[in-house]
Amino acid sequence: MKKAKISASIIGGDMCRLADELKKIEQGGADMVHLDVMDGNFVDNITFGPDTVRGLRSCSKMFFDVHLMIYRVYDYVERFKKAGADRLTFQIEATEYVDDTIKFIKTCGMQVGLAISPETNPELLLPHLAKVDQVIVMTVHPGFAGQKFMDEMVDRIEFLSMMKKNHSELKFEISVDGGIHLENAKLCREKGADILVSASALFDKNRPMKEIIQLMRGDK
Ligand code: DX5
Ligand code: ZN
Repeated sequence: MKKAKISASIIGGDMCRLADELKKIEQGGADMVHLDVMDGNFVDNITFGPDTVRGLRSCSKMFFDVHLMIYRVYDYVERFKKAGADRLTFQIEATEYVDDTIKFIKTCGMQVGLAISPETNPELLLPHLAKVDQVIVMTVHPGFAGQKFMDEMVDRIEFLSMMKKNHSELKFEISVDGGIHLENAKLCREKGADILVSASALFDKNRPMKEIIQLMRGDK
């Protein structure tokens, strides 16, 4: 059975104890940390920005996978680089200058990803697939943790997986973000997900995070 890496989204934790939550993610054995940056414009919610990412960077060496749900992506690229982001993924809907932004993120020395919202035509990804390190298939409307997984998005995982099978030059990883629980993680892996992003399911008070991560990843 195909395994997936687990990207633990810190917004699932207690927002007044971020450093402790980061430690929990590390000790729980997550493969990377997912940092959801929301600006109150692109989405109807505000989380945190580069200063918080920098603060967290000072207490962890984990891979920081920053998911930008903001406009003016280009203007923030260098700030997130300085803050310690390892990969910057932005919403394809957020800018007209997708190609330039991809190039700039790479020039700044980070990996780059594109995320796609449920209502956006997945064919818009096609011209960019050879240039990115990851595609995030949003399986909820971006903006909030704790929403329900949209089953109809599973086709997109399959579509991207087929693209990779048919075009060996495509090296991007397929991430799935939103509403991932133990009940649907296996299906996502089977359809081709390489990375599963999870917030609320991982921070379940009734079960150790380590156990949830192992099950979600497909270790057992
Ligand atoms: C939603 C964010 C997700 C969110 C996932 O806009 O991009 O990363 O944290 O939260 P859950 O796993 O609770 O759906
Ligand atoms: Zn996210």
